[in-house]
Amino acid sequence: MRILGIETSCDETALAVVDDGRAVLANLISSQAHLHERFGGVVPEVASRAHLENLNPLLDLALRESGTTLKDIDAIAVTVGPGLVGALLVGITAAKALAFALGLPLIGVHHLEGHIYANVLAHGAIEPPFVAFLVSGGHTMLVHAPEPFRYRILGQTLDDAAGEAFDKVARFLGLGFPGGPELDRLAMMGDPDAIRFPRAVTQRGYDFSLSGLKTAVVRHVTAERGRGREPALEDVAASFQEAVVEVQVDKTLAAARDTGVATIVLGGGVVANTRLRALMSTRAEQAGIRLFTPPPELCTDNGAMIACAGFYRLSRGDRTALDVGASPGLPLG
Ligand SMILES: Nc1ncnc2c1ncn2[C@@H]1O[C@H](COP(=O)(O)OP(=O)(O)OP(=O)(O)O)[C@@H](O)[C@H]1O
Ligand SMILES: [Mg+2]
Repeated sequence: MRILGIETSCDETALAVVDDGRAVLANLISSQAHLHERFGGVVPEVASRAHLENLNPLLDLALRESGTTLKDIDAIAVTVGPGLVGALLVGITAAKALAFALGLPLIGVHHLEGHIYANVLAHGAIEPPFVAFLVSGGHTMLVHAPEPFRYRILGQTLDDAAGEAFDKVARFLGLGFPGGPELDRLAMMGDPDAIRFPRAVTQRGYDFSLSGLKTAVVRHVTAERGRGREPALEDVAASFQEAVVEVQVDKTLAAARDTGVATIVLGGGVVANTRLRALMSTRAEQAGIRLFTPPPELCTDNGAMIACAGFYRLSRGDRTALDVGASPGLPLG
């Protein structure tokens, strides 16, 4: 079954053609980062307009690259939430029009379920129970999946999402936008033990908080400059990253232990982070836990993960009505 996946929840217009939830025939992403860079963050209205301009040309390219015509498509999968309402609407409207015109089933996909299914694209079907750690520009979330398509949220961020914190600290350090990947690169040249930034481990349970750490970074750099010293930014980046990742890995392993699962699944743009991948891998191995991590290019937003999740939902008989709307705050599960 050949599925067209459409993702427009934020600032990436992404379309993919995927066969049987596994074979990626085309996976095209038009990033709008250059449009939002000068604002230091995503401007919703700019994002919607860019999706509108990008979508049709990208659809033509995706079909051409996959050697497919619209007649070969069996179903349309689309992100219905969470995300920016105007951005989501562009993808949903296109998906509905295609499904209606071609007489094909439509399947609405939760964006975070898409991030989980990026693993299935790369590694094949993953049997629950598992714990998923979802960490991206808009979310930091620990989820227990006791059975297929059932999700129980164990904890989430109380303030900034990890990607957001990476981007804000990167901006403060004068790096580009989005700053996460830049900060990751800079941190490789720094000492993670140079500065002991606070770990927000004292708070209960599986929730996360990064606002204190963010403030600590700003205070440290400002204080150093006040003393007439320019801090080594690679050390600041590495020490900040270490403080973020250490807590994330501790909590994810604790969640797996406490729910008694032997499998951890990672998803979301921040999973592209080199240090998070390395530390999670080491600690999971020590604990005898199977760890699934998507390749970096499938961590950030893409249409293939949406087509893949759509395939598994369609396979168990799910369908979405043509009057479906955008759900900016759609809960998982
Ligand atoms: N190597 C990296 N290290 C740290 N952060 C990274 C890295 N690569 C990407 N990111 C961050 O990942 C985020 C983008 O992830 P993603 O595309 O999944 O987010 P989103 O779709 O905007 O958010 P959500 O999935 O919550 O709706 C950005 O904040 C970016 O800085
Ligand atoms: Mg995302």
